[in-house]
Amino acid sequence: MFSSTAVSERIGISYPIIQAPMAGADTPELAATVSNAGGLGSLGLARSSPEAMRKAIAEVRARTSKPFNINLFVIELPHADHDHIARTMKLLQPIRNELGLPPAVAPSNYADDFSAQFETLLETKPPVASFTFGILNRAQISALRERGILVIGTATTVAEARAWESAGADMVCAQGSEAGAHRGTFLADFESSMIGTMALVPQVVDAVRVPVIAAGGIMDGRGIAAALMLGAAGVQMGTAFLACPESGISAAWRDSLLHARDDQTRVTRAFSGRPARGVINDFMERFRELEHDLPPYPIQNSLTTPIRQAAAKANRPEFLSLWAGQGASMARAMPAADLVVSLVQETKAALSSAARSAAAD
Ligand SMILES: Cc1cc2nc3c(=O)[nH]c(=O)nc-3n(C[C@H](O)[C@H](O)[C@H](O)COP(=O)(O)O)c2cc1C
Repeated sequence: MFSSTAVSERIGISYPIIQAPMAGADTPELAATVSNAGGLGSLGLARSSPEAMRKAIAEVRARTSKPFNINLFVIELPHADHDHIARTMKLLQPIRNELGLPPAVAPSNYADDFSAQFETLLETKPPVASFTFGILNRAQISALRERGILVIGTATTVAEARAWESAGADMVCAQGSEAGAHRGTFLADFESSMIGTMALVPQVVDAVRVPVIAAGGIMDGRGIAAALMLGAAGVQMGTAFLACPESGISAAWRDSLLHARDDQTRVTRAFSGRPARGVINDFMERFRELEHDLPPYPIQNSLTTPIRQAAAKANRPEFLSLWAGQGASMARAMPAADLVVSLVQETKAALSSAARSAAAD
């Protein structure tokens, strides 16, 4: 049975299918629906205050008694170079003008405090907590595990997977370069850490003893079966669940996602200061040459947030961060519970067909 793997057994779910955390795009409804359908629903709360985290976690708990996952970004605030920020605000002003926004004022803070978010996790005790952008220390991981919280660390290279294992993580999510939105890279440079899922997963599986979850470009049962063949004990799927009506994305983003071709996504630093994959649009193209001169995450992210909010309201996809993976064209606009049922059926069919071919040899 494909449904019984180290991931599904450790977490206590029916199928080793994780709906990826997608800060700003997932919803408590999406997470709870996936958990109720037998997968693991996730909620990305990296951009939430402790108060907002408590509220969102309570909403998931009100909708499901099944396990769910809460995700945070492990970040330290970089030094804010005020001249650089002022120069970048000037560069962004023409787009603000096009959207009818007033001249920008430098934000007073750039991100929610990670240590306060982490304390909120310890207090609210979700069944699973996953992390990206950085790594926790052993004491932080022990504190989570002592409270019965399973820990998943995101890795984009073998070295990052080993680092999470030695810090004490329960599982590692291997994120291939096909993946939608931000790269989880935290050790080497981003360019050399762009390893495709097909190459990354087996190398990570060979390098660590903890269960490996494959992520990046997995859109249907064929992809799930392939990930299991590579040695993964579970999959994490973002772009596939983004198209479900329960996700919280704007109409313009949904439309771009459902019309994107295989060659229409690219990794960019333009929106947030950290490489992330999305559907190519005018904003990305305008900043293509300047990408490496923009402030780092989360500073650039907060400078572009008002633009993206106004663009969503005005239905202007050309200025939105249209995060999506390379498999976007395979996304299906179907209810999340139905998607889980289809994924399970497709995976079983793909695995049985492979078994029949092997038996026929
Ligand atoms: C819209 C969007 C937002 C995402 N936000 C997060 C996030 O908040 N935290 C996280 O760990 N991963 C995030 N990811 C990455 C996913 O965890 C996962 O690596 C990725 O979706 C897998 O590739 P796929 O999109 O091809 O399925 C996001 C992905 C998407 C598409």
